[in-house]
Amino acid sequence: MPETSARAHVKYIRPVVEQALHASHHPLNAIDYIAVTTGPGLLPSLMVGVEFAKALSFASQIPLIPVNHMAGHLYSPFSNVKGALRLKPKSTFDIFPMISLIVSGGHTILVLMRSLKDYQVLGQTLDDAVGEAFDKVAKMLKLPYPGGPVVSKLAEQGNPQAIDFPRPMLHKNNYNFSFSGLKTAVLYYLRDSSLKPTLLRLAQDKLYNLQPDLCASFQQAVIDVLVSKTLRAVKEFKAKSVSLSGGVAANKALRDALQTTTHNLQTKFLVPPINLCTDNAEMIGMTAGFMLNNGFKPKTFKQINADPNLTL
Ligand code: KG4
Ligand code: ZN
Repeated sequence: MPETSARAHVKYIRPVVEQALHASHHPLNAIDYIAVTTGPGLLPSLMVGVEFAKALSFASQIPLIPVNHMAGHLYSPFSNVKGALRLKPKSTFDIFPMISLIVSGGHTILVLMRSLKDYQVLGQTLDDAVGEAFDKVAKMLKLPYPGGPVVSKLAEQGNPQAIDFPRPMLHKNNYNFSFSGLKTAVLYYLRDSSLKPTLLRLAQDKLYNLQPDLCASFQQAVIDVLVSKTLRAVKEFKAKSVSLSGGVAANKALRDALQTTTHNLQTKFLVPPINLCTDNAEMIGMTAGFMLNNGFKPKTFKQINADPNLTL
């Protein structure tokens, strides 16, 4: 077995947990539950967290709450709605039905929420996730990882109409997405706009000048698809609100586009603050609290395992 479980969790996670306890002014014996992400994701990363949480639970006798990472994203927009997650499932709350768009590095999911607990996946990506497409485009432009923040920053100085990239699946009569064709279109554009046949030989200054327009046009293609599919779902299901979450929800242009469109439709719009869009512990703790409020029974360390393929 790689360094995963036994050593890595002590080496990497223990200082983080100690720091968090210190910053919260709560000693470990004041903690009622330990929430831990059990999936989906890469097995080694999940195991590091899960094994640490199990060891801590065993040593401290604090019960565990296993949390689905995607549920963490799904509920993260409610951090802005005071008391929302303390409601019982049957409570009437004037935002349902809600269409929830989750856009992260590993997932692009459109969800219909009839209530906090009653939800159904309408569609998802058939290949690359949105965040992944941002990351790959950044790599093509020799920009650092993660690509989303840097591509969106460059896009601010570019013309979103400069390059007519495809809008994949825009007119397909379903709620699925596909972003690998768009990524390839960017690659071909770079290749073709180069004086030399390969991207590697593209002159650095030419690549540099191209970046803002290319980033803005790529981002616009992504936004057009996401907004259009979300709106179609709003109309079909007569949704009273739209929520946006996941790392790509930190993208200002996407937030603004959904804000404007929902405003025009007199539909409410919920989105976490920018610093709570990319993966964070708060959304996992908050989701665990919601699960407990809704009758979830905490687990012992023996009942918990990492599951890379967990679904919503
Ligand atoms: O939710 P998240 O933190 O991790 C996963 O669950 O995957 O999402 C990370 C993704 C990365 O692909 C990153 O490039 C993207 O979110 N991202 C953004 C922005 N900030 C982060 N994408 C577009 N615009 C941003 N401002
Ligand atoms: Zn995530």
